[in-house]
Amino acid sequence: AIDIGTLTKQTGLTTLDQGFVNTAATQSAITYIDGDAGILRYRGYAIEDIAANSTYLEVAWLLIHGELPTAVELDRFEETIRRHTLLHEDLRRFFDALPHSAHPMSVLSSAVGALGTFYEDSLDVHDPEQVEISTIRLLAKLPVIAAYAHKKALGQAFLYPDNSLSFVDNFLKLNFGNMAEPYVVNPVLSKALERLLILHEDHEQNASTSTVRLVGSTEANIFSSISAGINALYGPLHGGANEAVLKMLGEIKASGESVEKFVERVKNKEEGIRLMGFGHRVYKNFDPRAKLVKESADEVLDALGVQDDLLDIAKELEAVALADDYFIERKLYPNVDFYTGVIYKAMGFPPRMFTVLFAIGRLPGWIAHWREMNADPATRIGRPQQLYVGPTERAWPRR
Ligand code: ACO
Repeated sequence: AIDIGTLTKQTGLTTLDQGFVNTAATQSAITYIDGDAGILRYRGYAIEDIAANSTYLEVAWLLIHGELPTAVELDRFEETIRRHTLLHEDLRRFFDALPHSAHPMSVLSSAVGALGTFYEDSLDVHDPEQVEISTIRLLAKLPVIAAYAHKKALGQAFLYPDNSLSFVDNFLKLNFGNMAEPYVVNPVLSKALERLLILHEDHEQNASTSTVRLVGSTEANIFSSISAGINALYGPLHGGANEAVLKMLGEIKASGESVEKFVERVKNKEEGIRLMGFGHRVYKNFDPRAKLVKESADEVLDALGVQDDLLDIAKELEAVALADDYFIERKLYPNVDFYTGVIYKAMGFPPRMFTVLFAIGRLPGWIAHWREMNADPATRIGRPQQLYVGPTERAWPRR
């Protein structure tokens, strides 16, 4: 078999594929997507079955190891993660060095980079024991770091993890508990958050996962790779869309502009505005996660007794867009994040935390991809080609 790099050199052919619309950078056995049919499967299991029956940590195991865990394996996995939730006290103090006004996504990526400095044994990326313990540390500590980013923005004291609680309940308590009174977990919140996290766990070669794999292909350790992935997720065209959707809905409400008028402005590309939470690189039919999230939005708001005009505006926007030729021709449908912001808001999270929640959801996928890339003997350092379009050789001007 001829190597593609050699073939490129021999033939002089290079493909320009801006945004990697048609170029596979890797083979992968983790997630299957059929964007035209609206199908998403993790390791062969339909996302609908997974969302209805599983837990965040069980799905994490599935993504990472390729099979569902046995009851004993899951028990041991959960217990090991519980034993690793504490952050080093120096890392707790690391948060003091950052301003209260910092965006929690910047805090998250910085703290994950810093986390790696406490575990330099992870630099040996080919030691399976190090890969395993780094996996546990990341899964256990990222939610704690995320909750501290939230507490820091609020100016509230950081709580220690309560390891008598489940993974998701512990996270809720770290975010919404305080030192003064006991925290009672609301099972509706807990179930809904677990479901949303599961829906975000993997999505094959999206921008942040590709970033994790690209950085990892240089044999940088998993903490550095995932810190880079968090930065890629931050942007409003990727994970930051959930925050951007809520901002858009709030602006429509505040301006009193009709939904039809707003959609008209989007279609006219006024100031480059887009209908945030709409469109997807691979789903050209519907995003199967969006359907599940929409169901959750109704359930959660009903159960919490919350009435939110923004949900009504979102539903109206969806109805108007889905009936409009602009969106039909371009195959633009609501994506996973069109309704998540409304749910996170009802749960009590500020908009700036929404993308952080996405990051916690996506972490198992990033880890699974980093490990798949790291274990694959075919992996080479990622190094895209370019087509040079600058000046040809020029004589240096005499001065
Ligand atoms: N609103 C209005 N028009 C849009 C939108 C949108 N949300 N998305 C795409 N279009 C239009 C483009 O203007 C373009 O139209 P044109 O052919 O007239 O120029 C056409 O649809 C194709 O758009 P591209 O930008 O080429 O599509 P691409 O696959 O590169 O982008 C993306 C996908 C980034 C998700 C895009 O649809 C978008 O910006 N959506 C809004 C942001 C968003 O919700 N991001 C979350 C993605 S999902 C996630 O990360 C979980």
